[in-house]
Amino acid sequence: MPRALLLESIHAAADAVLVESGFTVERAAGALTGDALRAALARSDVLGIRSKTELRAADLAAAPHLLAVGCFCIGTNQVDLAAAAAAGTAVFNSPFSNTRSVAEMTVAEAVCLFRRLFEKSALLHAGHWDKSAANSHEVRGRTLGIIGYGHIGSQVSVLAEALGMRVIFHDILRKLPLGNASPRPSLESVLREADCVTLHVPETPQTAGLIGASQIAMMKRGAFLINNARGSVVDTDALAAALHDGRLGGAALDVFPDEPAKAGDRFTSPLQACGSAILTPHIGGSTEEAQELIALEVAEKLARFWERGSTETCVNIPQVDLPVLRDGQLRILHVHRNVPGVLGTMHTLLARAGVNINAEYLQSNPSTSYVILDVEPIGDPALLDGIRAMPETIRMRTASNATSRG
Ligand code: NAI
Repeated sequence: MPRALLLESIHAAADAVLVESGFTVERAAGALTGDALRAALARSDVLGIRSKTELRAADLAAAPHLLAVGCFCIGTNQVDLAAAAAAGTAVFNSPFSNTRSVAEMTVAEAVCLFRRLFEKSALLHAGHWDKSAANSHEVRGRTLGIIGYGHIGSQVSVLAEALGMRVIFHDILRKLPLGNASPRPSLESVLREADCVTLHVPETPQTAGLIGASQIAMMKRGAFLINNARGSVVDTDALAAALHDGRLGGAALDVFPDEPAKAGDRFTSPLQACGSAILTPHIGGSTEEAQELIALEVAEKLARFWERGSTETCVNIPQVDLPVLRDGQLRILHVHRNVPGVLGTMHTLLARAGVNINAEYLQSNPSTSYVILDVEPIGDPALLDGIRAMPETIRMRTASNATSRG
């Protein structure tokens, strides 16, 4: 039976998917490093990690049999992806399972900012009964400006409209507006028109410092800014200055240029001195629902890879989405260096042995190719050994009737 090792308290929903696919599942609560990690890898066919377990080239080199790594989180920085590809180890993640969680928090923050709920709450904690309607507003009829209309931005759009907000957005790509949302041709046009601006762009060289003093100066006096995207997108000093002098009415920040490495570490920011700023510790996507969705998504990707060889959404090996293998067929799953002649050699070896190829799938990137051949059963194991022994082979395994062999 294939063995899956799940580290870092991955949500239990992953187990059922893997067990259904034939895996035995071993678990550990924390991250592993050094010899403990290598010893664990030695007894695993697939590894599940979150953000704390680092898999470097030396770890991967010590586990040449490791078929796949599931990152049960958004990012994959903790894995040396090139080294994994060179070893034929597929890496999967779950980039969008927490979309809804971020979108809900964003809309909740918009309501809190328009009603000044955090300021009122802080005052009451300090003993001040500030019962007043001044500067408190419904979000209904207010204009929400969304920068980045991708997975999260478009969900925010739907939820905000359900609350009666008027939604405008800007994206560098042409995006289908949902509901009554209306695109704008530039960042500036959104900044000038919106009562509340929310950022949902990725971290790229183009989005670094996207919102600085001059962009804040374009916003309506008393408008709100929400950043649940990445800390590098907003100039925090410029934002703190605009909050202090009342240029902006408030802000909500979940992400910061310098975030503490781990829970419990000290956090400092110029925004801590701003009473109108809602500050949260990068928890936009941190809900139990998102953890469960991540567990299901990544476990399903590992299961599909194990059973059929599908690498759809894989982050380091060419992506191929494969159909279920027909009964009686053998599937050869072959990852190799992307150099001329490999397919020709494989075809020749099979043809010489009289083996017919019923289906062939191929995807390549500049360094690596992944070819899958569905063939009639092969009687002579030496034929498969011959393919495996080709100098360009990085990894080869076969699958038949939902079983897989390294
Ligand atoms: P996505 O890739 O689905 O959407 C991003 C959108 O931004 C795309 O439509 C893209 O065309 C657009 N875009 C890129 N550069 C732009 C620019 N300069 N101006 C305007 N639009 C631009 O990404 P998704 O999933 O919606 O995530 C958005 C952000 O949220 C990312 O930065 C991500 O890291 C962050 N995030 C934060 C979380 C948290 O816990 N606070 C959790 C999950 C994601």
